[in-house]
Amino acid sequence: MSVTEQPPVPEPGTDDDAAQAALEDRISADSLTTRRDYLRIVATVSGGLAVGGIAVAGGVLHRHGDTDSAPEPKRVTGRLAPGESIAFRFPGEDDRAVAVRLTDGSLVGYSAVCTHLACGVLWRKDRGSEGELYCPCHEGVFDARTGEVTAGPPPRGLPKVLLVEQGDGSVWAVATARSGENAQDAVCREFADERPEVRAQLGCPVANDANGEKSRRT
Ligand code: FES
Repeated sequence: MSVTEQPPVPEPGTDDDAAQAALEDRISADSLTTRRDYLRIVATVSGGLAVGGIAVAGGVLHRHGDTDSAPEPKRVTGRLAPGESIAFRFPGEDDRAVAVRLTDGSLVGYSAVCTHLACGVLWRKDRGSEGELYCPCHEGVFDARTGEVTAGPPPRGLPKVLLVEQGDGSVWAVATARSGENAQDAVCREFADERPEVRAQLGCPVANDANGEKSRRT
């Protein structure tokens, strides 16, 4: 299941219904603990998303998503209609990002910092067959579905912001992916240390201990 897919809606009156209601209550509560609980769901639904060809200008530009600890999930918007976009900041307040609902309903998220010279990338739904991410500084163009460069001088595609859509239509940013990193690896990197159950669910790789031997960190 990709991050843009919805979990099955339980039948009313079932145990699953009660469990879903309890889960939504936890998600809606604004506390560190409940947001961490939410990541368990995030990890589950993020595992199947393929994210390829993502790059950043390491050492030159601020690397999107480069934080000391796992980011908190951030509510981006209550709803996003097909063809529309919304700008937001994630994972930090200096990290410009954009979420787009493609015309087929797919939800995609990217860093809005151009990989050429760091101008702001804009969503232009009037360009291309299904809209494009466009940098006006030197006419850089990125594919809306993949974030890859399709025209202009940007040397690399846009880093992705992994998004989850909840049953109420709200859109959440949950993680970022680095250069060449797929979604599962990104979630493992950002959350496995703090959430052993995420590591277990996704089969995240174990770490090397001081002797260079493989070991689990719990
Ligand atoms: Fe975006 Fe040059 S800064 S194309």
